[in-house]
Amino acid sequence: MFGQIDFDLFEAIYTTRSMRRLRSDPVPPALIVKVIEAATMGPSGSNRQPWFFVVVRDPETKSFVAERYRKAWERYFTPRAREIVASEPQSQQGRILRSARYLAEHLAETPVLIFCCVKKYNDPARKGQPMMNALFPAIQNLCLSARAYGLGTSITQLHAMHAREIDERLGVPAEYANLALIPMGYPMGRWARPERKPALEVTYWERWGNRASAAPEL
Ligand SMILES: Cc1cc2nc3c(=O)[nH]c(=O)nc-3n(C[C@H](O)[C@H](O)[C@H](O)COP(=O)(O)O)c2cc1C
Repeated sequence: MFGQIDFDLFEAIYTTRSMRRLRSDPVPPALIVKVIEAATMGPSGSNRQPWFFVVVRDPETKSFVAERYRKAWERYFTPRAREIVASEPQSQQGRILRSARYLAEHLAETPVLIFCCVKKYNDPARKGQPMMNALFPAIQNLCLSARAYGLGTSITQLHAMHAREIDERLGVPAEYANLALIPMGYPMGRWARPERKPALEVTYWERWGNRASAAPEL
């Protein structure tokens, strides 16, 4: 049933924005495994695959994490951010902040929390630093494949402010960094193209600063 799905790659890429308002309906375990499998298709230096994914569905553990995520959010939600939400709720920043606040207030109701953990280096020069770069291609694959199954995700890191307590609760060993938390579930809202700068605006040709005046023909 969940094996082969026919979903256009570009549709996934162009509609995978942060979906933070999620329904509490459960997600079939087979789909959780499929999106993690997609994550593991991501590249990593020397193909080390230094990742582990901790899937949390237990309500008590989710509440434990949600409490700490919310505390971290309260620190992040500065007076300036509150002012933006109050005075320009429809601006791009206002919308991101309102959506992020919703997640912070409803994390415990999210059906699945996926913690993405990555090994720390052990060589003297980099000892203790996480192999961070390895994780982000995997995470983006996870989000895109979730999109193909109709599942919303967002990439979050606020839990890291309470890393010690959360890692202890989840049993994450000291050689691993619990770098990203992906809340996943069926979205309440609509899929839409994320707001981004135009490609031509952020592309220089041959030399820094040289922009094309018009888009090349396909
Ligand atoms: C590395 C990284 C960390 C992020 N951390 C958080 C977070 O802690 N909480 C949150 O609500 N969103 C977080 N986001 C989501 C961004 O705010 C979001 O992707 C950005 O505003 C663009 O919005 P869009 O994904 O809807 O296009 C993070 C995204 C990335 C890539």
